[in-house]
Amino acid sequence: MIKAISHLGVAVKDLKEAREFYRSVFGLKSSEPIVGGGGTVRVSLVELENATVELLEPVGNEGPIAKFLEKRGEGIQHVCYEVDDINEEIDALKAKGVEALGEPAPGAEGLSAFLHPKGTHGILVELVQKE
Ligand code: CO
Repeated sequence: MIKAISHLGVAVKDLKEAREFYRSVFGLKSSEPIVGGGGTVRVSLVELENATVELLEPVGNEGPIAKFLEKRGEGIQHVCYEVDDINEEIDALKAKGVEALGEPAPGAEGLSAFLHPKGTHGILVELVQKE
């Protein structure tokens, strides 16, 4: 069952500038950046009461965030929903014809998997089963 929005993934060109914007304009702290996604993305998290904003800056020109920025510019790149049991959820979605992008894999918040935007009305959806 999909329960809540866990985070919004936001593609930014310059993580340092984006973090400074969130701090000075919105008054929000963000975590120290870490590199993830197999070395293709630098991530900093802005924690709110009901969800997290995941600021994503590309590392190099090849990863999904670099490609997204090239095509679409800065903005929301994915929406992450929290689920109870990710394997059960992915199986149920596949049975309904939704295309998953790979198998669930360990991420920052727990096991996560992505759904292809062509099957979700244009949004790259991430599902996470929190630890
Ligand atoms: Co995410």
